[in-house]
Amino acid sequence: SNVLSSSCVCPLQTVTGTLALSVFTAVLGSFQFGYNIGVINAPQKIIEADYNATWVHRYGEPIPTATLTTLWSLSVAIFSIGGMISSFCVGVISEWLGRRKAMLINNLFAFIGGGLMGMAKISRSFEMMILGRFVIGAYCGLASGLVPMYVGEIAPTSLRGALGTLHQLAIVTGILIAQVLGLESLLGSEELWPVLVGVTVLPTVLQMALLPFCPESPRFLYIIRCQEHHAKSLRRLTGRQEVGDMLAEMKEEKRRMDMERKVSIAELFRSPMYRQPIIIAILLQLSQQLSGVNAIFYYSTSIFQKAGVQSPVYATIGAGVVNCAFTVVSLFLVERTGRRTLHMLGLSGMCGCAIVMTIALALLDSVPWMSYISMLAIFGFVAFFEVGPGPIPWFFVAELFSQGPRPAAMAVAGFSNWTANFIIGFGFQYLAELCGPYVFLIFAVLLLFFLIFTFFRVPETRGKTFDQISTSFSQHPPAMMDLDMELGKRSTELDYLGGEGSLD
Ligand code: GLC
Repeated sequence: SNVLSSSCVCPLQTVTGTLALSVFTAVLGSFQFGYNIGVINAPQKIIEADYNATWVHRYGEPIPTATLTTLWSLSVAIFSIGGMISSFCVGVISEWLGRRKAMLINNLFAFIGGGLMGMAKISRSFEMMILGRFVIGAYCGLASGLVPMYVGEIAPTSLRGALGTLHQLAIVTGILIAQVLGLESLLGSEELWPVLVGVTVLPTVLQMALLPFCPESPRFLYIIRCQEHHAKSLRRLTGRQEVGDMLAEMKEEKRRMDMERKVSIAELFRSPMYRQPIIIAILLQLSQQLSGVNAIFYYSTSIFQKAGVQSPVYATIGAGVVNCAFTVVSLFLVERTGRRTLHMLGLSGMCGCAIVMTIALALLDSVPWMSYISMLAIFGFVAFFEVGPGPIPWFFVAELFSQGPRPAAMAVAGFSNWTANFIIGFGFQYLAELCGPYVFLIFAVLLLFFLIFTFFRVPETRGKTFDQISTSFSQHPPAMMDLDMELGKRSTELDYLGGEGSLD
């Protein structure tokens, strides 16, 4: 670990060409995730008009309003359902195929999804559009687990947070590009919207071309597949000939893991050693989604409209720019300030902005300039989100767990994230109708809760190896002796069960 700490002093030396290429290639998947979150917002009216045209063509009468609303909600929300289902399979797939091959094969979903959506208009079929959204959602669900896992595993300890944040940076870039391309003067027009939704296959092609040049995660090869000769990929990633210390660190992790090779999802909750980190992982994902950020990214235009902002579409793009800018800020802070501090800073800032937003909306009728305050409050809300709650939960899960339980943990975390995403995406409009200007107070309360939770329960992981992090959980109660007994008991149980409920 001497070398590990010296790499903290001059982190730039540890970013080799291979590492940069591998991270860039992986986060092309995150980019598509963001693109498909953002793409559906602007062209709503235009695509709806096409659904109507199809209906008229088929049945000779205009589509009933209620049917149109259902079809549109379905087109938006089925994306998160696809994500929920596939993110749940991240564990099994990443162990079966390996991280790299899983990302490669996932691109099939992107081709099918993008193809279906791109061809929906010409085929006069909203069914194709809806199915396409489902399939691309499935792609994004897998990407949302595979990318942080792969990046976390190939990153040197001192850069794990910064490189992990690149996943989020690629997501927000995707959102912003989708928002801009979705302008009616660009691709968000009646003729061009199929291109808008179909171009998602371009990054896919690029990723498929580049993945063969990226090494598989050495941690996966060595700890899971027991292939020691793959020190070669470690040399390529680190640019060093001498990787003995890293192999030693992995060896230590592997030694510990051999006592409990396969960890099923049920095991995560049953074992006292994993219960605490899995609860933290789930709550961090919930803090990201139930902060209400996607209320902004799905409905910003109508929120800005209600708040009296003059050009809501441009305000939406403004939010996208703030979103990107502050992810970059987080990128530079995360290895200095640490995850825990940034997450708490972000949550408290968001909570403050939600309160300001509520006051501004409540006073809007009597004080007209409150519309500016509410716009600033939303920009602030998004900015604080990207300081911590945006990027950190994604890579934090990969940090909390060692190699054995990581895939199952990523699956559980991803599933929680997508489920909460779905709930907000689907429920926000109803809530907003019910609560009027006070809707953001709900988020303020939730944010306060997550802030308190983080303060009391979330540890700092900056600068620690995976092994150190997972051991830190086993040093607290249950006491070490109990734990050893527990481990012994569990491995016997596993032998007895013959690996039932395991990942493979
Ligand atoms: C995070 C969230 C995603 C959200 C985005 C906004 O990546 O997971 O749901 O839309 O941030 O920047």
